Amino acid sequence: MRAATEILDISPVIPVVVLDEATQAVPLARALQRGGIRTVEITLRTPVALEAVERITAEVEDVSVGVGTVTEPGQAEKAARAGAEYLVTPGSTDRLLDEANETGLPTLPGVSTVSEALRVAERGFTALKFFPAEPAGGVPYLKALASPLPGLTFCPTGGITPDNAGRYLALPNVRCVGGSWLTPREALGKGDWGQVEALARQAVALG
Ligand code: 3PG
Repeated sequence: MRAATEILDISPVIPVVVLDEATQAVPLARALQRGGIRTVEITLRTPVALEAVERITAEVEDVSVGVGTVTEPGQAEKAARAGAEYLVTPGSTDRLLDEANETGLPTLPGVSTVSEALRVAERGFTALKFFPAEPAGGVPYLKALASPLPGLTFCPTGGITPDNAGRYLALPNVRCVGGSWLTPREALGKGDWGQVEALARQAVALG
């Protein structure tokens, strides 16, 4: 199993995905892979999410599947049982962190303040999701955290675009960014895997 910090090194961008149909999962993962992205975060925002994780785990090699939007009790364990390789939470409550720890999976807990970052660091989490990145202060805010919090590494997510991603990726405390722009819901609905592949290719070039 990878360490949480290694999750941040898989690809310069973690695609944050909302799937409407479980049948979209495998062609989506393959399109990302063709474009050079070897990870995908399936969010628990639709009822098909866990089935999607199971399908990718069973059918696609070399794509690391994370489960995101872990916000409720019991979800971390269900994600682990579905085959998730890592967990992502938008915020960090004690209960969520306890449950994530119980799965043993690498976890990127969500934080948006210095105190939250310190609190999760006290519990041993050092690879964090900075969310929602743009509304919470963006590049200048994260840059200001690098000196006082040298042991922490971030995956900023929320409002990241191909235009601003490079500025985040240039920060010393950022190893990758997350975003939904690679997997537009309409493209997934239409089965436009060529578009997803092209967006993935463009995202890899950012790194
Ligand atoms: C997330 O859950 O990480 C965000 O919804 C992704 O944010 P974005 O849609 O602004 O990329």
